[in-house]
Amino acid sequence: MTDRIYNFGAGPGVLPEPVLEEAQRDLFALPDVGMSIMEISHRSKTFEEIIGGCEADIRTLANIPSDYQILFLQGGASLQFSMVPINLLPAGGKADYILTGSWGKKALKEAKRVGAAQVAASTEGDGFNRIPAQSELKLDPAAAYVHFTSNETIQGVEWKREPETGSVPLVCDASSDIFSRPIDISRYGLIYAGAQKNLGPSGVTLVVLRSDLLERVPKDLATMLDYRVQAENKSLYNTPSVMGVYIMRLVMKWLAKEGGLEGIGRKNAEKAKLLYDAIDASGGYYRPHAKPEARSNMNVTFRLPYESLEQKFVSEAKSQKLDGLKGHRSVGGIRASLYNAFPKAGVDALVDFMKRFQGANG
Ligand SMILES: Cc1ncc(COP(=O)(O)O)c(C=O)c1O
Repeated sequence: MTDRIYNFGAGPGVLPEPVLEEAQRDLFALPDVGMSIMEISHRSKTFEEIIGGCEADIRTLANIPSDYQILFLQGGASLQFSMVPINLLPAGGKADYILTGSWGKKALKEAKRVGAAQVAASTEGDGFNRIPAQSELKLDPAAAYVHFTSNETIQGVEWKREPETGSVPLVCDASSDIFSRPIDISRYGLIYAGAQKNLGPSGVTLVVLRSDLLERVPKDLATMLDYRVQAENKSLYNTPSVMGVYIMRLVMKWLAKEGGLEGIGRKNAEKAKLLYDAIDASGGYYRPHAKPEARSNMNVTFRLPYESLEQKFVSEAKSQKLDGLKGHRSVGGIRASLYNAFPKAGVDALVDFMKRFQGANG
């Protein structure tokens, strides 16, 4: 077996080792089937059991009520930037967007192509380093929905509780923190997430939506973009990402063994605290991007005294098997992604490296 390093990459991110080991076996031949998971029909009994089981496991894990649909789509979270307004923003209607980082801006840009998408709040003036207070939100009671990004992967800011939107449905891009902590699904109209951070491999996108919202979907949408068609066909209108759904199911089983969302939430908080404590104890050498109350447990972003030192940090870390620490190209700096499957030992190793690096380059 090839040695594994610590993968701090922001996405695709680290997957649980037991999942990779099981997938490795099933890549050659599924027990009692004799074909690879990549070779079976999406209409087979085997896959019916996998996708049905995955849905059931997700329902149990996140306590998702029966009046919510669970869809396994393709096109990434980016396609949801378009599908959400195409399906839920009626002609002549409006939608509110709360911007706390780069991904929310991208979602807004796509919504504007469809209809009147308006900014209910933005923290861009502060470099997207915080989450707005409820009192800052200029919410329109006539909006078709309010969209927010629960965790901004690039800036490393995370909502600690959902914004209050009254009776206006809340829509959330949860791509980088879904199932990282307990969630009250009944607060949401729709949640979507590309799988490649906390759920599985890229190529499958989870959408959870309240069934009554399907009644708002306009007629005659392009078939594949229509949530109603996807729901009526149980995500099998066309060939779904068979491999993606299969891995997602293994990840759900792994999460259940980790103590469910409560259990993984505790572990994630512990891992993130170790790293933020190390940053705070560095006497200003490591400078966190996010305000303390907005700090993400998934993506820890910070800077060093100057840029060339950051490059040195990333390359020396890599030589010590700590990979993927370079911040997003749009903001620079360092980003350590600590998704569900990222082990605490990797955080310990990074903290140790940071102390040594500061000692040698302080
Ligand atoms: C919060 C968030 N939204 C959307 C995306 C885009 O996802 P995809 O590449 O699946 O389209 C990402 C990707 O990193 C993300 O982190």
